[in-house]
Amino acid sequence: MTRTRDEGGAISGAHNDGRSITGTLTDQTANVAVGRPEAVRLWVVGVGPGDPELVTVKAARLIGEADLVCYPRPRRTTDESSTADAVTQRLCAADSSAGDAATPRLHARDIAAPFRREGQREFAFALPMSADPRIAEPAYAAAAARIDAELAAGGRVVVLAEGDPLFFGSAGRLIEVLGARWPVAFVPGIASPNAAAARLGRALAQRDDVYKVLSATLPEDRLSAELAAADAAAILKIGRHFDRVRAVCDRLGLTGRAHFIANATRADEMILPLAAVAAGAKPYFSLILIPRAASGSLAADADGGPAAAAVETSTATATAMAMATAE
Ligand SMILES: C[S@@+](CC[C@H](N)C(=O)[O-])C[C@H]1O[C@@H](n2cnc3c(N)ncnc32)[C@H](O)[C@@H]1O
Repeated sequence: MTRTRDEGGAISGAHNDGRSITGTLTDQTANVAVGRPEAVRLWVVGVGPGDPELVTVKAARLIGEADLVCYPRPRRTTDESSTADAVTQRLCAADSSAGDAATPRLHARDIAAPFRREGQREFAFALPMSADPRIAEPAYAAAAARIDAELAAGGRVVVLAEGDPLFFGSAGRLIEVLGARWPVAFVPGIASPNAAAARLGRALAQRDDVYKVLSATLPEDRLSAELAAADAAAILKIGRHFDRVRAVCDRLGLTGRAHFIANATRADEMILPLAAVAAGAKPYFSLILIPRAASGSLAADADGGPAAAAVETSTATATAMAMATAE
């Protein structure tokens, strides 16, 4: 058995037979298999956030080796037949936030597709978007049961996460449930603000800059205070909060250097100056990047990338963006 203890007192490790030891990471997954990755059969693997070429070599290998590939299922699909899935589907349908214009599509599975091999099993698990544990916990338990069964039978499992799994990871609670029973290890991925900054060709931070990552779901006064005290920022989870965030940026005089990026590094990527974006709800996979004030574009528009073109947005493109939010 191996175990490690970090400075916060968290214990992690695994028995040689792959069964877990008890322990907690302060507010995260138990049983992070530090130091013995060869014993791990449950991997949480960052992919994307869009372009499959941004998947790491390690992630690609683990995806190919897995017996079961798991990924979050978009809400509102009804193509599953197992009892567990039926339960999670029903629970998600009860989520009051489901069904808005920000419904995610099947991204992680698409991104991982080039690295799969024939004959792999796959499992699309529901992600309850509700914070209400009466809704969320049964859904996680149902998803964990399917993955548990695979691990108990000796299978290797990868759970795909978009971008970086430990950066606003949607499957955190599921991994926590599984991590209480199995050693688990993580493969980092490229987080969406980093991918967006690369596409924009703007530095996120330099020298002693304070760069903040904020959620558009924050109350307006908090968002405003945080942005006022930052040199640069990325605002995630824009969705139906776009108008509110835009108003905050306007008030703080940030709109002129802010950019809106949807589906970064995907074929349907859109990059627009914030000032050119029409009001209204935006796609789930969108963010606002506010680069440091002195930052000019670093990118030559060599590979057809958006850096130069995006900043010269036409009214037609802005209109297309507004239409795209209806997805
Ligand atoms: C639950 S968080 C997941 C973040 C993800 N783990 C990462 O590393 O970027 C979801 C939010 O990330 C942002 N996001 C993820 N992928 C994106 C993409 N390809 N383009 C733009 N924003 C993206 C959006 O703001 C979205 O609402």
